Amino acid sequence: MFLRNAWYVAAWSHEISEGLHAKKILAENIVFYRKKDGRVVALEDACPHRKVPLSMGRIKDDQLECGYHGLTFDCSGSCVRAPGMERAPSNAKVRSYPVEERYGLLWIWMGETHSAETSKIFEVEHWGDQQWGLNQGDGMELACSYLYMTDNLLDPTHVAWVHLTSFAGAACEDTPLELAATDAGVTVSRWIMDQPPAPFYAPFLSFEGNCDRKQHYEVRYPANALVKSIFCPANTGGEGRELPSNTFVMDSYNFITPIDEKSCRYYWFQLRNFAPNDAEVSRQFASSVRFAFEEDRVILQALQIGMDNKTTPHIDIKSDRGPKQFRKHLADLIAQEQGQAPKVLEIPVKAVSA
Ligand code: FES
Ligand SMILES: [Fe+2]
Repeated sequence: MFLRNAWYVAAWSHEISEGLHAKKILAENIVFYRKKDGRVVALEDACPHRKVPLSMGRIKDDQLECGYHGLTFDCSGSCVRAPGMERAPSNAKVRSYPVEERYGLLWIWMGETHSAETSKIFEVEHWGDQQWGLNQGDGMELACSYLYMTDNLLDPTHVAWVHLTSFAGAACEDTPLELAATDAGVTVSRWIMDQPPAPFYAPFLSFEGNCDRKQHYEVRYPANALVKSIFCPANTGGEGRELPSNTFVMDSYNFITPIDEKSCRYYWFQLRNFAPNDAEVSRQFASSVRFAFEEDRVILQALQIGMDNKTTPHIDIKSDRGPKQFRKHLADLIAQEQGQAPKVLEIPVKAVSA
C-alpha cells in the first residue's frame, strides 16, 4: 500500500518539543525526541524485549530507556545498556529512521537508510524569498486512505460543489482539464477565461472586473502536491503567455502522510506573491484555507465509509482520469520497490462512464 523509499512529513518541527512523541506512519509506530543539540531522533517505538512502546520510557543523556526493564538505546537504535546483564544481547536493537528538518517541517525517510538523500525532499520554490508572503501552515488527521486525498488533489472539479463559498468560481463546472504525467507525478490543469473571481480570492486581487484563472493541481509521488492558483485581468492569461505584473499567484503546498491504510495526516502551507509582510493577510488566508480543507475532510471521510460499506459497485467518471493515472504509476512504483509485478491500487470498477 505504501511507497517506502520516500520522504514523508512526520510532524511540524515545533511539535517535536521536549519529551517523547509517538506517531504512527505507514503503519509503523515511531518515537521522536530531540537531543541536547536540538537534532531529532526517530526510533521504532517498540522495545525488542516485550514490545512495550519506548515512548513510555525516558530520555537519559540523549539515549532512550525503556520504561519496563530499562533496556537503553542510543540514537542509532543499538542497545547500550541492559540492567542486570553483563552486556546487551546482540539482537537487542530497534530501527532508527533518517530525519531532516526543512520548511518548518520534520521529514522522515521510511525506506532503506542508504538511499535517504535529502535532495529528494519536495522542493518549495520561493521558500525564504522576501517578495513572497507565507500563510502559516496547519495540519489535520483524516479518517480516510491517503489515496482519497491524492485523488481529491488531482480533481479540481470538486471545487464547484465542495467549496461553494470559497474556492469555487464561475465556469469551474465545465471548463475541460489538461492532463500531464511525468516520472515525478501527475498534473491536472486548466485556464478558465474571462470570469468573475472566486469569492475566496476576490478581496486580494489588485485589479477590478473579470479575470483569467489558472488552476494547476500537481501531485508527486508518493503523496505531495503543489496547487497553483493564478488570477490575472481578463484576456491577459493563457498557456505560455507572459502574465502582467499585477497577476495574483498563490502556491499551495500539501503533504500527505499515511498513518495506516485508512487514515492519514495532512500538512499544508501557502506562499503568495504579494503583501509579504502583512500578518493580517496571512491570518485571513490561514483561517479560510483551514475552513475549506475541513470541507474536504467531511467529504473524504464520508467517501471512505461509503466505499467500505458499498453494496453495489462504484463507477468512474471523466474527472477520475488524473487520479487513476496517478494511482496506476504509484502502484507500479510500489510493486517495483517490493520486487513484484505491478498491480493497480484501486477497488475494481465495473462500469466507466465518459
Ligand atoms: S519491555 Fe523494554 S526492557 Fe523489558
Ligand atoms: Fe478541496
